[in-house]
Amino acid sequence: MEPFLLFISSLISYLLLVDCSELPFQEKMLLKALGLSGRPKPIAPGPVPKTLWKIFEKGINEDNPCRMAGFQVPGNIVRFYRDQGPLISSDMFHGSLCFKKHLFFDLSVIEAKEQVTLSQLEIKFKHNTYQGQEFQLQLHRPLHMALKSMRDHNANRKLLFAQSFRLHHKSLSFNLTKVTQDWTNKNNNMGLILEIFANSNTSMENHVSSSCDQIHSFIHASLLTVTLDPTSCKRRVKRSEEPLLPTPSNICKKRRLYIDFKDVGWQNWVIAPRGYMANYCHGECPYPLTEMLKGTNHAVLQTLVHSIEPEVTPLPCCAPIKLSPISMLYYDNNDNVVLRHYEDMVVDECGCK
Ligand SMILES: *[C@@H]1O[C@H](CO)[C@@H](O)[C@H](O)[C@H]1NC(C)=O
Ligand SMILES: *[C@@H]1O[C@H](CO)[C@@H](O)[C@H](O)[C@H]1NC(C)=O
Repeated sequence: MEPFLLFISSLISYLLLVDCSELPFQEKMLLKALGLSGRPKPIAPGPVPKTLWKIFEKGINEDNPCRMAGFQVPGNIVRFYRDQGPLISSDMFHGSLCFKKHLFFDLSVIEAKEQVTLSQLEIKFKHNTYQGQEFQLQLHRPLHMALKSMRDHNANRKLLFAQSFRLHHKSLSFNLTKVTQDWTNKNNNMGLILEIFANSNTSMENHVSSSCDQIHSFIHASLLTVTLDPTSCKRRVKRSEEPLLPTPSNICKKRRLYIDFKDVGWQNWVIAPRGYMANYCHGECPYPLTEMLKGTNHAVLQTLVHSIEPEVTPLPCCAPIKLSPISMLYYDNNDNVVLRHYEDMVVDECGCK
């Protein structure tokens, strides 16, 4: 069985113990279907960035759940990482250097099968009304492990971006797609070095230091990645209109089921939705299978054989034949905020299989 069908059927069988569920509920399996090794235990989760809320609220394009419409790139997972790099002591600064920090984002959660299609670094400043002073920002990438004293040598690092800015900018963004692809492909993520200089005309030391004071309004850096897990993408079939024919209540059909993540004990790490209309399939698949029961060829044969030898061959199962995706927003084990599209989470139609 496909992992997501497995997910749906096991979750539902856990909740309702419907027929045709070979597998008992196992949370581990469920989490695996969601691409997680265990139930995340967020320790100090931060706020959910506005961009992620926006994408979540917009919903999934059901015809193409493997595209992140908000970013115009292929992808089904968006992750938001907080910077874990240390501030480099200011004692050793000289000249117009005001601020220096090692930026590090733990990308180990990106699995080998995922392709990075977008990566964006955001550097945020506290709002500051003083607009006169200009600063220069430089982002370097360390090329290899170097001794501390040698780290700043330009042979040991590559300048990625140099940009002037004034503090009325609330944030600056940088396209790190290529760098992140390299980090994940070669597993050589050594982070970045962020340096901010006072762009001063005068050489007076005190002037430089007073303009440096303002840069302490620097708040934080964050990284956002969009990745594509191609193993959870499949060809979509056009959704057909559901017939609204009255059916006897014991006949195989879709039943309404709302899954509340609180009931599964997942409310601590699933941010949104709180739950969703998952539905399930239930009912009999009697002989002969009518058009309405959407039986597969195999199921039609199986009911026929069952009518002849009922003890040997069971009737076909009432099972999902059309499923649709949902989007989930959650915290992973590193307190990163993740938005992920999951296929086959909602039962749209049932049939006899
Ligand atoms: C970011 O960089 C990548 C690779 O260099 C490029 O393909 C992509 O178009 C850029 N994205 C944006 C939004 O500029
Ligand atoms: C230096 O000062 C001159 C004139 O006062 C100004 O035109 C120039 O933009 C300044 N340069 C920088 C880097 O601030």
